[in-house]
Amino acid sequence: MSTQDLGVAAVLVGLGGWLPPRTVDNHELSRRLDTSDEWIRTRTGIASRHVVDPDLSTVDMAVEAGARALRSAAATGGSGPGDGADGAAGEAVDAVVLATATPDHPCPASAPQVASRLGLGGAAAFDVNAVCSGFVYALATATGLIAAGAARRVLLVGADAFTTLLDPADRGTVPIFGDGAGAMVLRAGTAGEPGAVGPFDLHSDGELADLLIVPAGGTRCPTSDDPRDRYFSMQGPAVFRHATARMAESSRAVLDRAGWTPGDVDRFVGHQANLRILQTTAKSLGLPADCLVTNIEHTGNTSAASIPLAMADAVADGTLCAGDRVLMTAFGAGLTWGSALLRWPRLTLAE
Ligand code: COA
Repeated sequence: MSTQDLGVAAVLVGLGGWLPPRTVDNHELSRRLDTSDEWIRTRTGIASRHVVDPDLSTVDMAVEAGARALRSAAATGGSGPGDGADGAAGEAVDAVVLATATPDHPCPASAPQVASRLGLGGAAAFDVNAVCSGFVYALATATGLIAAGAARRVLLVGADAFTTLLDPADRGTVPIFGDGAGAMVLRAGTAGEPGAVGPFDLHSDGELADLLIVPAGGTRCPTSDDPRDRYFSMQGPAVFRHATARMAESSRAVLDRAGWTPGDVDRFVGHQANLRILQTTAKSLGLPADCLVTNIEHTGNTSAASIPLAMADAVADGTLCAGDRVLMTAFGAGLTWGSALLRWPRLTLAE
């Protein structure tokens, strides 16, 4: 029986994003790599990205985005169970789910530190690693916690300091990625109400793990004499083909599950991997160009943070409005991919 059949749903009540202060534009990159602003813009749609300095970690970014989402939930106000009259939405959070592929340490998970630093110590807290699909996977996980009755209110954060995995000399990866964090607060509610998330469609293919991989540092290969094995390697053109095909397939599946057609979608919020990937996917779904929500030009690919960051920007500039029917889809290393739907609620952002 699905969550929808049960009538229990996770409902979006707070949203926030945070980017590290340092920006690196294409001109700066082209001074140290064999590339150009023109090449990067044309092939990816990216003009600049935010990058962590050594004193900033994934947990630091997750705390900033999480705090904004909690303040957003408080500002959005008493739309359901757990919304205190004083707006202290944070006190009622009973689970923190962190989507990340770049935790502060290989062990333990980073989510408990995020919870404690936000004053949510004692809440359930754990990481989900599905790399660039992490946010959609963690959204499904948070929805499952709520549907199972294990939590009434969940803070979900997608945060990655992906630039820390990159070989600074690799022009194939450095222009593409940036760092950041985005977060949502979800509360228990019913499937029909605005902000209710679902249905979902999730998949993986481990046989293609080598297409995007950090070869060393795990149990298969703890150390390596080749320093390049510590860095993220990517077979760009193959990834491009899989990303466009899988995101379109999964989008169709989730639309079918909900009884929606592409014509029912008001906003398409795909993982911000590459503007051409998003445009190709939207086109193959038959979505109009103005449906596409994108902020990749100034963020790059922020991995698990990209969907909530794009949503926060779209709410701020009025592109994403209450009542909009939203299609989310993502693709990442693993391989992993997945999609989810929601009808956008009335939501107030907070600094
Ligand atoms: N600057 C200038 N030239 C570059 C370059 C760079 N940063 N990177 C590669 N090139 C060159 C290549 O060497 C190649 O030159 P050649 O034709 O002389 O051999 C040419 O540009 C085309 O390379 P190719 O890799 O085929 O380009 P592309 O159009 O596929 O674009 C990516 C490369 C990486 C932008 C694209 O494949 C991509 O976005 N893939 C998906 C990546 C992704 O989204 N990863 C995360 C998934 S979650």
